Amino acid sequence: PAGAALSTALLDWYDRHARDLPWRTSPADRKRGIRPDPYRVWLSEVMLQQTTVAAVKSYFQTFTKRWPTVADLAGAPDEAVMGAWAGLGYYARARNLLACARVVTLQHNGRFPETAEELRALPGIGDYTSAAIAAIAFDEPAAVVDGNIERVTTRLHAIETPLPAARKAIRAFVDAMTPSLRPGDFAQAMMDLGATICTPRRPACVLCPVSAGCRARMEGRPEEFPRKLAK
Ligand code: ADE
Repeated sequence: PAGAALSTALLDWYDRHARDLPWRTSPADRKRGIRPDPYRVWLSEVMLQQTTVAAVKSYFQTFTKRWPTVADLAGAPDEAVMGAWAGLGYYARARNLLACARVVTLQHNGRFPETAEELRALPGIGDYTSAAIAAIAFDEPAAVVDGNIERVTTRLHAIETPLPAARKAIRAFVDAMTPSLRPGDFAQAMMDLGATICTPRRPACVLCPVSAGCRARMEGRPEEFPRKLAK
């Protein structure tokens, strides 16, 4: 599928069907090009690293009410943050969260760095999270690849190589598909498509905004992707 036509169709679908999530800006703000607060983007992406959207929502609300800025979080006692994190699991994430908040507050004057490369140097921020924050909060056309996006991409391009070896090809395709305008909305549209339409089983191709350019769909076998190395 041609990159520009695909991203245009997907962004148009996102404008009509984006999930309403607490870390996203309103459709009206998106239309005006208003970007979300980097602190809220960072917090949500760290929480979402190993936890579902449904489970993260209430924790995100609690954290942002109690600590509205990164400096507020940096100034919180360790026990308060660890206590508020209880239930989300993977407690190394909470330790890195606090370490990162303190580095941003003390070494970056309370402002998150704006490139994926600089973000990658902060505690708890890896390849996925740095790309997601750079794209969503700062409009950097970074290739964002999570599990949903892997599934969508292997289907669009009928990538026969199994995971994990397919990751190089997936990244190259996502790189080529990512638009320079609204890269963060594009990444989140891919996530929403994977979560609601391009599901692991019985994908709803009749509702898909990019089915016309999907090779797996054309071949009548979307569920065969992504292929996985036999265990
Ligand atoms: N999973 C990880 N990041 C997400 C986001 N920004 N929106 C929806 N699901 C996500």
